[in-house]
Formats: sequence, structure tokens, C-alpha cells
Amino acid sequence: MKKVAVYPGSFDPVTNGHLDIVERGLKIFDKLIVAILQNPGKDYLFTVEERVEMLSLSLKKFKNIEIDTFDGLLVEYAAKRKAQAILRGMRAVSDFEYEFQMALMNRRLNREIQTVFLMTGLRWIFTSSSIIKEAAQFGGNVKGMVSPIVFQKIKEKFRLKD
Ligand code: PNS
Repeated sequence: MKKVAVYPGSFDPVTNGHLDIVERGLKIFDKLIVAILQNPGKDYLFTVEERVEMLSLSLKKFKNIEIDTFDGLLVEYAAKRKAQAILRGMRAVSDFEYEFQMALMNRRLNREIQTVFLMTGLRWIFTSSSIIKEAAQFGGNVKGMVSPIVFQKIKEKFRLKD
């Protein structure tokens, strides 16, 4: 049986930390479904179409990847897609409480689906979509923290110069 994991997130936008987790995840799973949350109640910087495009272009070199969007409960989506696992990246201790809570709730909702945590590479330990957006918003250079295509999109969004 093929091992399939859903790698869920807002990906607003996808960072090099996310790409690092995808690369690591593909060493364990036969297929990863990168699932972008489309939550109508949440304000995103990028539209879901932009987030899909940035992920598709950033993940072009990887095989056995599918990019999809979902709303509602993650475990319901994962079950519908016949995934055995949910993949999440773990950076520092600060991630732990939120991730632990979410993993336990997801387990309570569906005991068949396991949450698997992978450690992000050390060089991405401080990066997050939020901190990257905050820095870029005030003109900070976030080159090297996101793929070149995402860097371009961020520059356009915040009307930053080269
Ligand atoms: O990249 P993020 O924003 O940290 O990802 C969070 C995400 C999408 C994994 C989480 O918000 C989620 O799964 N939302 C869907 C609703 C759900 O099932 N929540 C967890 C159990 S209540």
C-alpha cells in the first residue's frame, strides 16, 4: 500500500522552511498532498489561486506531489484523500504547544490518521510566513528565505524595489 500524507497549511506564502519539510517528507512517504487551507473567515495576503501558483512553481522539481485546497476539518479531508498521515513541520519549542494541541484534537476526531512531525533544517528554524511578511511589509529583504518566484510575488505585493 502506498504511504500518503497530507501536508496542510496556509502557505501564505510558501517559505523555504515548507520546501525543506516537503523534501524530507518525500523520503518517508510515497506521495505528499500539499493542502492549502481556504478559510473564508481568515485574511490572507495572497489569494488561494496565488498560493496554489507559488506552491506549484516552487515545487516543480519534486515528483509524487499533488497540490490541492481544502476547507473544513483537516482529518475529514485527509480521510477523503485516503491519506494515512498528516505531516507537520516543527521548528522550535514555541511551535510545540499549538502543534501538540492540534495533533491531539485531530487524533480524537479520527484515530486512524497519524500526525508525523519532521524537524525543519536548522537554517529555517526562525522563518515563518508571518515573520517574512512582516519584514517585507516594512521593506526588509527576504531574499533566500523563499523561492525566487515567491520573492518576486512578495516584491510585487508590497511594491518593493530590487
Ligand atoms: O500553516 P498553518 O496556518 O499553521 O496551518 C494550520 C492548519 C491549516 C493545519 C490548521 O489550521 C487546520 O488544519 N485547519 C483546518 C481545521 C481543522 O481541522 N483544525 C484542526 C482541528 S480542530
